Parts: sequence; C-alpha cells; structure tokens
Amino acid sequence: MWPVWVQRDLMRLGALLTLLLCLSLESQENSFTVNTIHMQSLPDWTVQNGQNLNLQCVVDVSTTSHVKPRYQVVFYKDDVLLYNVSSVKNTESFLIPQARVHDSGTYKCTVILNNKKKKTTPEYQLWVKGVPRPRITLDKKEAIEGGVVTVNCSVPEERAPIHFKVEKFEQDSKIFKLKKEKTSWEQNFVTLEFPIEEQDYVLYFTCQASISLGFQIETSETTRSEEMVTVTASFSTPKFQVSPPGVITEGDQLHIRCTIQVTHLAHETPEILIQKDKAIVAHSKHSREAVYSVMATVEDIGNYTCKVESSRLSKVSSIVVNIRELFPKPMLEFSSTLVDQGEKVDLLCSIPGAPAANFTIEKEGTIVSQGQNFTKTTEGRDSGTYACTAAIGKVIKKSNAVQITVCENISEPRIFHDTKPEIIKGQAVRVSCQSLNGTAPITYYLLKGSDVLENITKSSNDPAVFQDNPTKDVEYKCIADNCHSFPAVSSEVLSIKVIAPVYQVKLTILKGVEVESGKEIVLHCSVAEGTGPITYKFYKDKESKPFHQAISNDTSVIWYKAQASKEQEGQYYCVASNKATVTQSSTHSNALTVKVFLASWKKGLIAVVIIGVIIATLIVGAKCYVLRKTKDSPNSDVEYTEVEISSAEPHHALGTKGTDTVYSEIRRADPSNLSGAPPRERADGPSWPLPQDSGPAEAGEVCLGNFWSRFL
Ligand SMILES: *[C@@H]1O[C@H](CO)[C@@H](O)[C@H](O)[C@H]1NC(C)=O
Ligand SMILES: *[C@@H]1O[C@H](CO)[C@@H](O)[C@H](O)[C@H]1NC(C)=O
Ligand SMILES: *[C@@H]1O[C@H](CO)[C@@H](O)[C@H](O)[C@H]1NC(C)=O
Ligand SMILES: *[C@@H]1O[C@H](CO)[C@@H](O)[C@H](O)[C@H]1NC(C)=O
Ligand SMILES: *[C@@H]1O[C@H](CO)[C@@H](O)[C@H](O)[C@H]1NC(C)=O
Ligand SMILES: *[C@@H]1O[C@H](CO)[C@@H](O)[C@H](O)[C@H]1NC(C)=O
Ligand SMILES: *[C@@H]1O[C@H](CO)[C@@H](O)[C@H](O)[C@H]1NC(C)=O
Ligand SMILES: *[C@@H]1O[C@H](CO)[C@@H](O)[C@H](O)[C@H]1NC(C)=O
Ligand SMILES: *[C@@H]1O[C@H](CO)[C@@H](O)[C@H](O)[C@H]1NC(C)=O
Repeated sequence: MWPVWVQRDLMRLGALLTLLLCLSLESQENSFTVNTIHMQSLPDWTVQNGQNLNLQCVVDVSTTSHVKPRYQVVFYKDDVLLYNVSSVKNTESFLIPQARVHDSGTYKCTVILNNKKKKTTPEYQLWVKGVPRPRITLDKKEAIEGGVVTVNCSVPEERAPIHFKVEKFEQDSKIFKLKKEKTSWEQNFVTLEFPIEEQDYVLYFTCQASISLGFQIETSETTRSEEMVTVTASFSTPKFQVSPPGVITEGDQLHIRCTIQVTHLAHETPEILIQKDKAIVAHSKHSREAVYSVMATVEDIGNYTCKVESSRLSKVSSIVVNIRELFPKPMLEFSSTLVDQGEKVDLLCSIPGAPAANFTIEKEGTIVSQGQNFTKTTEGRDSGTYACTAAIGKVIKKSNAVQITVCENISEPRIFHDTKPEIIKGQAVRVSCQSLNGTAPITYYLLKGSDVLENITKSSNDPAVFQDNPTKDVEYKCIADNCHSFPAVSSEVLSIKVIAPVYQVKLTILKGVEVESGKEIVLHCSVAEGTGPITYKFYKDKESKPFHQAISNDTSVIWYKAQASKEQEGQYYCVASNKATVTQSSTHSNALTVKVFLASWKKGLIAVVIIGVIIATLIVGAKCYVLRKTKDSPNSDVEYTEVEISSAEPHHALGTKGTDTVYSEIRRADPSNLSGAPPRERADGPSWPLPQDSGPAEAGEVCLGNFWSRFL
C-alpha cells in the first residue's frame, strides 16, 4: 500500500496530466474561417483634395476558440504593398491625412490566417478631386522692353507629372497677351521666361495646374501673381516727319525723316530703317533718326515704313507720301520696229499735253538725237533699244523702251556637203546651207527635188546642217529666209550621185547546161542592182585569170562562143564589181557546170567508122587464116620455143633486147628438115606445150598487127 501523501500527489499529477491532455485536445480542435472581408473609406471613396481619409479593412472571422485569432492585414494601393499589420481586431485602418491627387488609385486589402488561409477584398477606386491652388512667384517687379520676366509656378502638395499653364496679362485687361504651357515630369514646379514686348506696361501673371489621373484630368483654380511688373520702354515708337509740308510737287527736295526716343536704361541703341515696299531707302545704326532725301518724282509716291529694331524688340510705323506730277512720262513713237536695211526709221518723242520740254532720244545709253525727232536711213548697226527723255526744269523723265530691228537682206545661201560628189547607197550625207550675210534668225529649208525635206532656224550666220540618206541620184537646194521683206532666197543646186553596190550576181546559160558540140554557148552574167560602170569577169574552173572581162553600164553582159567543143566543158562563174564594191564575196555569182556532148550525126559517123574498121579487120583476119591453112596443112603446127636471141639475129624477133629470153614463133614446113639439129630444150625445165585452141587466135593477132601496121 502507498502512503496517503503519495496517493494525493499521484492524484494531483493525474489531474494535471488530464488538464494538459484536455488543453492539447482543445487546441487541436480550434478552427478559423474568414467569413467576409471588405474595405470602406471614410468619409467616402470620392473626396476633395485636402480631406482627411480613413481607409478600413473589415474582417469577419469565425473560430471555435474562445480566444480571438491573430492574423495579418495587408493594404495594397495599385497592387503595391502599402501597409502590413498583425491584428486581432475586426477592423484595421490606414489613415491618409490630407488626401492628394496622387493618393487616387485602386485599393484592396488581404487577410492572412496562420500564414495559410488568405482572403482578399475586391478592388476599390479612390478618387481625390481637385488640385490645390498653385503658387506663383516672379523674379522682378520692374522690367525693360526687350527684357524677360521669370515666372515660377509650383504645387508643393502634389507630385509630378503636373501640367502648368502660365499666362501674361496687362493690368486692367482680361485678355492674355502670351500663354505658355509646360508639363513638368520630374518636379512639382516650372519656371518660364516671358519676354517683355512693346505695349507691355503693367503686367501680372496667372498659373493653373492640372494632373492627369489617366481616366480624368484634375485641374486647379487659377492663381494670380500677387506682384505686378512695371515695364519701361527702351525706345519709343518711331515717328515720321516729311518735308516740305503740304503738297509735294515733282522737283521739290523731299525729306522723309524717322525719329525715336531712347531711354537711358536701354542696353543698346536700336537700328532705324526706312523702307519703301521691299527696298531699304535709308538706315542708321547709332543715331536716333534716319533720313531719306531725294528730289521728288512720282516714282517716290508710296507707303514708307520705319522699323526700329533691337535684338529683341521691333517697333514699326508707316506713312503714305503723295507727290503731285509735274508732267506725264514721255512716249516714244516709232514708224516700225522691223525695218529693212536701207529703209528709213522714224522715232518721235512726245509728252501728252505737249508742254515745253527738252527732249533727247538715245540708243542704249548713247544720245542719237537732241530733239524730239529721229529719222535715219538704216544700217545694220542701227538695231537696238531706243528710249527718250523729256526734261522740264530739274525733272527728267524717261519713256518706254522701243526695240528696233534693222533687217539686212539675206545673201544667196551657199550649199555644200561633207562627202565626195558620189556616195555609196546607204551612206548618210550632211548638206549644209549658209547665208553669210543677213540678219539672224535665218530659216533654211532643204529641198530634195521639189519637196521640202526639213527646216532649220539658225540664230547666227553659221551654217544649218541637214542630214539625209539618199537612195538614188539626188538634187538638193536650199532656201533661206529672214526678217527682210524680200522673199526667200534660193541656193544653187547640189547634185549628188548615189552609187549602188552590185548586188546578187547571177550566172545563167542560154538553152541549158548541156551543150551540143559545135553549137553556141551563151553565158549571161547579171546583177540585181548596181550602178555602172560595172566590171564583169568570167572565170572557168580553177583558173585564176578570167577568160573574159567586160565593163558595162548595163546590169548584165553576155559571153558568147559560136562553136562549143569538149574544151568548153567545165564549171563557170562570174564576178561583178563597181566603185562601191566592198567585199569580194558579195560579188561572186553562182557556179554553173557546163557539159558538151557530140552531135548525133557525129556519133553515127564514128559508129560507121568503127564498124568499118571491124569489118576490115575481120576480112583481113579471115584472109590470114585461109592463107595459113593452105600453106602448112596438114602440119600446120606452130611451136613456140624459148630462144636466146643475140643482137645479130634480128629477124622475126618480137623484141630486140640483147640476150633477153623471148618467145619466138618458129614455123616449120617439115619438122625433119628444119635444121638438122633437135630443138634445144630448156636445161632447167621441160618444154611446155601451148594450148592447142589458142594457136589460131594468136596467129590472127599477128596478122592483124601486120594489117594495122600497113594500114597505119
Ligand atoms: C507583413 O509583415 C510580416 C512581419 O513583418 C511578414 O512576415 C509578412 O511577410 C508581411 N506580409 C507581406 C505580404 O509582406
Ligand atoms: C520655384 O518655387 C518652388 C516652391 O515655391 C521652389 O521649391 C523652387 O525651388 C522654385 N524654383 C526656382 C527655379 O526658383
Ligand atoms: C503701309 O505698309 C505697312 C507695312 O507693309 C502696312 O502695314 C500699312 O497698312 C501700309 N499702309 C497703307 C496705307 O497701305
Ligand atoms: C518731228 O516730226 C514731225 C512729223 O514727223 C513734225 O511735224 C515735227 O515738226 C518734227 N519736229 C521737229 C522738232 O523736228
Ligand atoms: C531746255 O534747256 C535749256 C538749256 O539747257 C534751258 O535753258 C531751258 O530752260 C530748258 N527748257 C525746259 C523746258 O526745261
Ligand atoms: C536681196 O538679196 C537677194 C540675193 O541675196 C537679191 O536677189 C535681192 O535683189 C536683194 N533684195 C534687196 C531688196 O536688196
Ligand atoms: C556681206 O556684207 C558685207 C558687208 O557687211 C559686204 O561687203 C559683202 O559684199 C556682203 N556679201 C554678200 C554676199 O552680200
Ligand atoms: C519647220 O519644221 C517644223 C518641224 O520640224 C514644222 O513643224 C514647221 O511647220 C516647219 N516650218 C515650216 C515653215 O515649214
Ligand atoms: C557609162 O555611162 C557614162 C555616163 O553615164 C558614160 O560616160 C560611159 O561612157 C558609159 N560607159 C560605158 C562603158 O558605156
């Protein structure tokens, strides 16, 4: 048995263990869940600039525990973490004191339980309306014309980018004089320079700032500068003085004076210019006036402008000056502007209304007449521009200009060309025409035969060059014409011979290429084209020299042989050439093969002769045979014996060749009494008999040989 205190201690331990177990069991069973989560903005999601703002994240969490769970609440603006807090409260706040435009944006908050469970609100749009009034400061209170005022406009509460609009106003005026706008991308202020111009007196400036929210542009109220800028003129507006006063008449001395006043504060003396239309008639740089002095004429009537210019400032005024005309411009009248040389030209200078005046007539600066009239029999050099002047007192006026052309008669044009008087067909010929005398421009017409081929107008007396490609003999003529009243003048005739090269040489034969001997041969060499004289050459076979040559103006020639013989048989061709012949190959004709055959009666004659000869031969042969038959029979044998013949034994020898071995015919009437000695036999071989049937034929030939030798 345990002691009691031990038992009590054990019970206490047991109870503690049970409590611990219960506690652990309880902590394991505790569950959390986020029921809802949302954001709210106090006072609103749309607030005025400068208002205090309280953004709240409201969480509703359920748990099985008695203790409130701790969780993380994270605020985001435009998806960027804004604020992170660990909390057990239902509502967490994020305070924005004095909300600004840059606080506008999308907000949300997220609750994270146990680093596991996470719940996020939808996005809320915060819109801060309005921009605080900008602040405007000026760098000076007094300025000079041509200077600048620097304006600083800022919105310290806001962040860039900010768009600024700054305007310059004249005091007591509602209309701005100059507006400048600028977006500042980095800072919340801009500094802008405003020039001080003519007619700026007392100035103030305004500024307005706007900030873009992307979907909306927030604009501030307009701030007006507290200070004013007082402007001092550096120089006055220019003033005109014209003398003499009152009506100005031509001949008067005219002074147009332009003056200004310059303040002692000015940094520089401005330049003064007097302009009439675009022309500067007077100017001064270091003085307070400029003067234009001239003897008045109507040309001086007009609008004069005086400009005063410093580097930054320009002041302008203008005046119209009127001048009374003393007399109108003189007029130069003329009889004609185009005068034939040698004809008279009349010029008359006059003033409408014909007041007494002194006149001069001049030609290109040279006085040709001191009077009102100018009459002259013209020469070529009288061409030119004429004008006249009229003078009354000091006033001299010039008339209109008159262009007088004195036209010199054209000389007969000469015609020439650049080649020989003969040209080859296909070659170009350049025909030139030139009238050495006569006022230009001269128009040349080239006539080919009776047709005008072309015309060329020359502005000098240089030749006009025409080009042509004549194909046959041609005659050219030039006609030249100019301003002179005489009709056009014609040149001599230029004849040009055109040589056509020989072309397509052809050889033909009359009555065909087979010619009966004794009949005529006619060869015909012709060309399709070619200018005479043409040299024709006839060639036969491969002979290098022509067997016939002829020069003719005709496009064909013939060669004639009255009685053709076998000699004329062969291949013929002809060659034609003239002055224009360039290549030999082009002038060769075709080849022609000619055959000469015998006439039929000649053939007959030859046949008769041959037959006659045969008959005669036969007769002689027959005779020989009969003769032999009667002499030898019955031993009409012919023996052939090989014999050695010496030169001393010429009889009956068929050939005499010293000691040559020949076959000799030996005739025997009687073999027994022939010579007493037996026929010698060849030592190296047996004698051989000749075929018996050949015997008579051989005999016949010998006979005929005798016959022919006698016959011939
Ligand atoms: C909020 O802060 C806690 C503690 O500083 C940090 O552990 C947690 O990551 C933060 N939450 C976020 C979303 O940054
Ligand atoms: C313009 O004014 C702002 C505030 O008024 C100031 O911070 C800034 O320096 C000024 N800028 C200049 C160029 O003076
Ligand atoms: C004279 O010329 C100036 C400058 O060109 C012009 O402003 C002005 O109107 C003109 N005056 C007259 C009367 O034409
Ligand atoms: C000029 O010629 C015109 C006629 O052509 C004549 O009437 C006039 O008297 C001449 N004047 C002079 C000054 O020669
Ligand atoms: C013409 O010239 C003469 C001599 O120079 C001068 O005496 C005369 O006054 C002039 N006439 C006119 C109308 O100007
Ligand atoms: C003009 O010149 C041509 C020859 O070139 C001549 O025949 C003719 O007579 C001349 N005419 C005059 C008016 O001189
Ligand atoms: C061309 O004019 C000159 C003088 O200008 C003259 O001597 C010559 O005879 C004239 N020739 C012809 C062809 O008219
Ligand atoms: C001169 O030739 C041009 C073409 O080159 C032609 O138009 C013109 O009519 C010709 N003039 C005459 C007067 O034949
Ligand atoms: C060819 O004609 C020219 C003239 O056309 C003549 O002078 C020449 O004698 C002629 N020649 C022959 C070979 O007929």
